Amino acid sequence: MTKEAARPPTRPPAADFGSGDFRFPSFDLRYESDGSRIAPLQFRSYEIFSGKPAVDPAQPAYYVEASDEATTLRVDLWDPLTDLRMELWYTVYHEYDIITRRAVVVNSSPGAVTLRSIMSATVDLPNAKHHYTMSHLSGSWARERLLTSDRLHVGTKSIHSRRGASSHQHNPFFIISDGDYSEHSGDHYAFSLVYAGGFLGHAEMTQTGHLRLAMGIDPMTFEWNLASGDAFIAPEIALAYSHAGVGEISRQLHRLMRTRLVRGNFRDRRRPTLVNSWEAMYFDVSEDRIVEDLAIPAAELGIELVVLDDGWFGERNNDRSSLGDWWPNPEKFPNGLAGVAERVRALGLEFGIWMEPEMISVDSDLYRAHPDWPLHVGQRPRTESRNQLVLDLSRPDVRDFVVDAVAAVLTSANISYLKWDFNRHLTEAGSAYFGAAQQGEIYHRFVLGVYDIMERLVTAFPNVLFESCSGGGGRYDPALLYYMPQVWTSDNTDAIARLKIQYGTSVAYPASTMSAHVTKSPNEQNGRTTTLATRGLVALGGVFGYELDLNVLDSQEQAQIRQQLALHNRIEDVVRTGDVYRLFSPYEPDPQQPRLTSWMYVAADRQRAVLFAFNSDYYELVWNNPRVVLRGLDPAAVYELYDDVQLKRYTLPGAVLMSAGVPVIFNRDGSSLFYEIVAQSKK
Ligand code: GLA
Repeated sequence: MTKEAARPPTRPPAADFGSGDFRFPSFDLRYESDGSRIAPLQFRSYEIFSGKPAVDPAQPAYYVEASDEATTLRVDLWDPLTDLRMELWYTVYHEYDIITRRAVVVNSSPGAVTLRSIMSATVDLPNAKHHYTMSHLSGSWARERLLTSDRLHVGTKSIHSRRGASSHQHNPFFIISDGDYSEHSGDHYAFSLVYAGGFLGHAEMTQTGHLRLAMGIDPMTFEWNLASGDAFIAPEIALAYSHAGVGEISRQLHRLMRTRLVRGNFRDRRRPTLVNSWEAMYFDVSEDRIVEDLAIPAAELGIELVVLDDGWFGERNNDRSSLGDWWPNPEKFPNGLAGVAERVRALGLEFGIWMEPEMISVDSDLYRAHPDWPLHVGQRPRTESRNQLVLDLSRPDVRDFVVDAVAAVLTSANISYLKWDFNRHLTEAGSAYFGAAQQGEIYHRFVLGVYDIMERLVTAFPNVLFESCSGGGGRYDPALLYYMPQVWTSDNTDAIARLKIQYGTSVAYPASTMSAHVTKSPNEQNGRTTTLATRGLVALGGVFGYELDLNVLDSQEQAQIRQQLALHNRIEDVVRTGDVYRLFSPYEPDPQQPRLTSWMYVAADRQRAVLFAFNSDYYELVWNNPRVVLRGLDPAAVYELYDDVQLKRYTLPGAVLMSAGVPVIFNRDGSSLFYEIVAQSKK
């Protein structure tokens, strides 16, 4: 043997951890046989499929309805020293600038492997033409998904949730702009993770100005054991690109989400207008109050569905008890749910209900019977939040209980809607069911448990409209949309605060998913006074409903609500299925102008559109009346513009509306403007 041959082999630096690429790695694992963490993967083979194979039917993912909609590439990598494999699945949707991506680790090595982190996508971008900007949707309870943009400098910026849920604080979505964030121009790249648990979105700019981007399960709350032969399938991610502004990314993602992520009978259907009991009566619900204070006036107004929110079950008179005891309180509902549902239905309305199935109150029969069922770590104290603990959905017996409990409620009465709440995040995420080696897996096992119970229930109850909720919009993510087509956007129902929330949400999610209710004024959360007209128009930009005491309305307000419901009937399909154009941002006040927010939706055939504009936070007299320049119309068509009570205001060609625009004259704080836009031949 020569000296040369005895030297270990060398190679150029590879993009895995520990062998020369010092940036954030796309995965990190440990071979338990020798404790090493180096796995330089090499290309081995690839295969191309027409359509989109379901890589893991147990996890949410985008789908196709016909195999010619998409083409999928699977790239196989391996570590030649150990035989460990990785599959990368890329699906290109032919009609969209969107690629979905999945990573699968297959431990075909002879020994055990611990997966310490895995990103669903890692993308390297060259130096920016100007500079890079990272935009994301961040906030907190009652101020979710506020659009935030930061210029990237050398170093790292990340968004994350370590809460076991996607969270109010950060959304599993970010945009990288080559230059500044811009609605209508420029190159932009979006990352949208299909995961309901904790996540990481990471941007790292190197000393050379190159940008590494990564998104996947939050590594801090993740670990997975892979025995020889086991595989781990990371969540799917959608990667979107636009060279014509962020607006185009939104429109493409919305279309794909609406039609190839959301499933079920309600995917393409008009959703019923509803009235929800929460802000009308909080925990003080009863059969008589639901019928007399909500259902009877709702029927008179033409609202279609009455939702009995929190307070109906066990001993639930406040938020300190009874989660898990899913039977109707006999004093409030002496005839059970069937009794109240029948009285509501007799008025011609549908009946819906609220549950929080993943939770358990310490003060509940369920907890007294099963103190081991919440997530917990041995004898350590269990951190309560909103006086409740989280059920250990990594356990099959707990999952069966939840499925049975929800199914029992849904079959106990004629229920056509379920609001599924989740009012706290995970702490002490350990399980009494699993051994020590599995404890690092519980966060992810919980998420898989959520998917399992939701899949079983939405399959068993295809005619129930499910709306997800998490203290408002604390779990507003693509994974939940795979099970439930709409989300309670925020517990903040103030119309003006909602402008920023709904505008930010619309960057990543379509209006068809965004539940929005008209509530009372002054608003319950922040005390702001807003006109009923403005409250209605803000809510009409989403899935429309009411949440207030209908008995206190005067006749003028009743007439206005009837008009809103009629307007909703005329335009809901345009909002639900149309393309969004964001025209004025509530985040960009110009000191010389009133603070304007404006968005429009345009039907696919461009024959109909709706324009909304709002004046927010402006207490000075307006000297410069702005014009709102429309977008997305057919320049050659002539359109008629009607206001919300159908008075004709303008007849103008699309080209004029999209160059000169329409004037907006606001002289009151919180005032609003609406136009229904109809191509002339259509009216
Ligand atoms: C959460 C929801 C509210 C309401 C309450 C009930 O906060 O976001 O809409 O359902 O729970 O407790």
